[in-house]
Amino acid sequence: MAPAEAASAAMIETRGLRKVFTSRKGPVEAVAGVDLRVEEHEVFGFLGPNGAGKTTTLRMLATLLPPGGGEATVAGADLRRQPALVRTRIGYVSQAGGADSEISGRSELEFQGRLYGMGRAEAARRAAETLEVLELTECADRVVRTYSGGQKRRLDIGLGLMHRPRLLFLDEPTTGLDPQSRARMWDEVRRLRDAGTTVFLTTHYLEEADALCDRLAIIDHGRIVALGTPDELKRRVAGDVVTLGLAGAGEQALALLGAQDFVREAGREGDVLRLYVDRAETAMPAILRLLDGAGLALETMAMSRPSLDDVFLHQTGRSLREAAS
Ligand SMILES: Nc1ncnc2c1ncn2[C@@H]1O[C@H](COP(=O)(O)OP(=O)(O)OP(=O)(O)O)[C@@H](O)[C@H]1O
Ligand SMILES: [Mg+2]
Repeated sequence: MAPAEAASAAMIETRGLRKVFTSRKGPVEAVAGVDLRVEEHEVFGFLGPNGAGKTTTLRMLATLLPPGGGEATVAGADLRRQPALVRTRIGYVSQAGGADSEISGRSELEFQGRLYGMGRAEAARRAAETLEVLELTECADRVVRTYSGGQKRRLDIGLGLMHRPRLLFLDEPTTGLDPQSRARMWDEVRRLRDAGTTVFLTTHYLEEADALCDRLAIIDHGRIVALGTPDELKRRVAGDVVTLGLAGAGEQALALLGAQDFVREAGREGDVLRLYVDRAETAMPAILRLLDGAGLALETMAMSRPSLDDVFLHQTGRSLREAAS
């Protein structure tokens, strides 16, 4: 490894990365100044609702879209000045996935290898190896049209891996997959990381970000609203969350409970209240007494430790589950 790419070098570093699209309704600020650093050998996630700017950021970092502003270094090369070098060092698996192809998975992989300049024999060897690793050997010689959703998605990843990139971009690798295929995909991503590949993926699944990512950025309206390990982010919303369902009395209950000292923060979505408290065990009896005293009917009550959704809610005032649907 060259000295300029010492182990401590970031795999991705961006400063003020930006993109504004012009649409009929006026300018859309898809990416509004993103600063981030992705370390070598980590699985880094971009979590955010539809339209947050995830794909736009990835496409810029993968040289598929010229940045509107800002700077970035990707896999040791300058994004603006050395896009061709960036391209040889990265793999990119798009969100949509390829069309139903009438050729076999093996042929697709071999073709991809040839595109990257491999000779016939080398492409064939590398394709066989990739099929083996992704457990696609059994369907390797069938036309891709007949593959299951999970098999297709694994082939997409294989296409991104043929030239052994040190950095792999995966745009929503598991959207639309059944839980079993999703779990396999997670294993695959972990295996890649263990083998030394840095993975930058996007998702709008909270569970996925939590289970798979070493670190993640939560992105909303083109801006990073939180960045850290899943645990760090959850700890930022300290204490417990008490969720209350109130029949038609959300507003009064918010006024009453939001004013209590033991409630650090309160939020309301319709008749559902979320209270951030230090200790749910002591807060819950007090909440019951207060609501009872004010004659407000409680329908449901639940407590939880903060989730990534709470982090999102905390930073944006909206629930990621709802923002994403
Ligand atoms: N080519 C384009 N022209 C105009 N607007 C665009 C273009 N591409 C993206 N946008 C807009 O930019 C914003 C960010 O889009 P982007 O695809 O990056 O979001 P995303 O986070 O990937 O969303 P999803 O989760 O739905 O994939 C959206 O408002 C989108 O409509
Ligand atoms: Mg997208």
